[in-house]
Amino acid sequence: MKSLRILVLHGPNLNMLGSREPGHYGKQTLAEITEQLIALGDALGVEIISFQSNHEGELVDRIQQAASEHIDGIIINPAAYTHTSIALRDALLATAIPFIEVHLSNIHSREEFRHRSLLADAATGVVAGFGATSYMLALRGLAESLQQKSKSETGV
Ligand code: DQA
Repeated sequence: MKSLRILVLHGPNLNMLGSREPGHYGKQTLAEITEQLIALGDALGVEIISFQSNHEGELVDRIQQAASEHIDGIIINPAAYTHTSIALRDALLATAIPFIEVHLSNIHSREEFRHRSLLADAATGVVAGFGATSYMLALRGLAESLQQKSKSETGV
């Protein structure tokens, strides 16, 4: 099986996980979630590269950079930019790297302004509402879909 490289992107305020509104986002820190992703990645044959920024332009730059880094897929929790950022949508479409949109909370059971995502229709899949487990489900799903794609393209 081909080994994969997956970039995990976290948007604004996710650096505060652990202390930020634990009723919505749980008690795990971003460092703990990253550790779990790396451990699951090891088991699945996936290299995990993680990046968090509070700045839209930095996230756009990181997505553009991914195009020249042999990144096979992206898992992104765009946080508040989910609901506002045409720039992130355009960057993901421009690189054409398959991506999964992730949310810790179920955005559809919260305020109405969180129901709309500017990225979701372009995503391979969306996972929301499972806390930190949303990221692990996204990793399993994306790894499987990329492995299947590579098998159907190369027969390996
Ligand atoms: C979030 C949901 C967003 O609406 C919010 O702005 C976030 C986190 C989530 O993971 O549940 O910052 O993306």
